[in-house]
Amino acid sequence: MLTSHLASAAFLLGASLSTALPATTSAGQCSPVSFKLSATAQNTVFASPPNPNNETQILNFITQGLSTGVPTAGTQTVSGNFTINAIYCKPSPGTVSRDAVQILVHGILYNKTVWSGLGFGDQYNWHAFANDRGYHTLAIDRLGHGTNPQIPDPLNVVQGWLHVEIIHKLIQAVRTNAANNALDRGFGKVIYVGHSYGSQIAPWLARNYPSDADALILTGYSNSPNVATIASLQYRPAVRVKPQQFPGYPLGYVTQSNATQHTLNFYTGTYDPAIPLADLRFPDTVTDGEASALGGQLAFNATGYTGPVFIATGVNDVFFCKTPVAACEAILAATGRDVFPTAGGFGYFAPEQTGHDLSLHYSAPLSLCKVHEFLEGFF
Ligand SMILES: *[C@@H]1O[C@H](CO)[C@@H](O)[C@H](O)[C@H]1NC(C)=O
Ligand SMILES: *[C@@H]1O[C@H](CO)[C@@H](O)[C@H](O)[C@H]1NC(C)=O
Ligand SMILES: *[C@@H]1O[C@H](CO)[C@@H](O)[C@H](O)[C@H]1NC(C)=O
Ligand SMILES: *[C@@H]1O[C@H](CO)[C@@H](O)[C@H](O)[C@H]1NC(C)=O
Ligand SMILES: *[C@@H]1O[C@H](CO)[C@@H](O)[C@H](O)[C@H]1NC(C)=O
Repeated sequence: MLTSHLASAAFLLGASLSTALPATTSAGQCSPVSFKLSATAQNTVFASPPNPNNETQILNFITQGLSTGVPTAGTQTVSGNFTINAIYCKPSPGTVSRDAVQILVHGILYNKTVWSGLGFGDQYNWHAFANDRGYHTLAIDRLGHGTNPQIPDPLNVVQGWLHVEIIHKLIQAVRTNAANNALDRGFGKVIYVGHSYGSQIAPWLARNYPSDADALILTGYSNSPNVATIASLQYRPAVRVKPQQFPGYPLGYVTQSNATQHTLNFYTGTYDPAIPLADLRFPDTVTDGEASALGGQLAFNATGYTGPVFIATGVNDVFFCKTPVAACEAILAATGRDVFPTAGGFGYFAPEQTGHDLSLHYSAPLSLCKVHEFLEGFF
């Protein structure tokens, strides 16, 4: 496996940052799009499912899922026609367009809007940076999140297995000009970009469908999750924490109930303190079905995947890395080696002063630069 080790970037931070990086002011052209996708998955059946109307049981189940994992009792087939909403951005007319689309898959408590920087400017805008370099970008709402019209059963339907099957169908659609391709064209190259849970499901996709993604960019991720920290999240049913934002949602859709804890978990190092405040005003959710697998079942190796892989995770990411820089880099290197043993190229970057929400810290432009430098070698 080719390993391109990217050095710590601390020397670039600070005053020299603005001169070291090209300006990202000419954002691409963005519009909302919607896909209709038919998908079938073998979802997990739980041995002791919580009563869907009992908050205590749901929260206990989630804590157990996030830490030790929950006992399972086989699988069941789940299928349906799903509507997946997304934001599609293309390079502005003055930019040389590539035949490549980046599919951006958000983590838990977020939705497709996180990739636009939550309104804090282009320095946090993944679309704008990628569009300026000729990539098209498509930020999707995973099933059950964002503006998707369906609010399926959180435990039995909204699980990682089904997310993977839906994303597989989405990739098939955008590779061609099929009737269910909501973009105005097909793409020769598809780059999967994940954050956190969006990254954790990528090895499942790459193992089951090794030719779906031509490259994987995984942010806020490693294969050494700090499960005790993940389990310390203070979740409560979204309908009880934010009844106006989540009217009538089943109790299994939960969200962060404590702003202090949210900031401690998702932001560390240097960042604009206004961002976590704005972020938690309108959080998205995680379901008990998604949380159930975080403690163990996501430990999956993508043997057989031969495309390039790049991992970008903050040194101060309390869920997935460790200080100092060398310790975090060792984790990321081991993740590449173990999870993607047949990758056709591997690189990683561990930005300093950066917590879990990689693209919402001051280091965001530098991380975006490292990611696109890596891609440049392949596209
Ligand atoms: C909810 O579940 C808990 C734990 O199993 C139980 O003690 C409690 O009585 C249940 N509450 C209701 C309203 O059923
Ligand atoms: C999806 O919709 C089509 C057309 O209405 C229908 O034939 C098909 O059975 C549906 N698929 C699933 C999995 O529900
Ligand atoms: C919120 O989380 C912080 C940090 O863990 C904790 O100190 C505080 O007691 C929590 N507040 C509530 C109301 O639980
Ligand atoms: C999606 O995320 C944005 C930004 O955090 C938020 O304003 C919006 O309410 C979220 N949507 C849902 C349905 O949670
Ligand atoms: C993934 O690969 C590593 C290294 O070979 C191995 O230690 C680990 O057990 C594997 N994990 C799974 C879930 O197969």
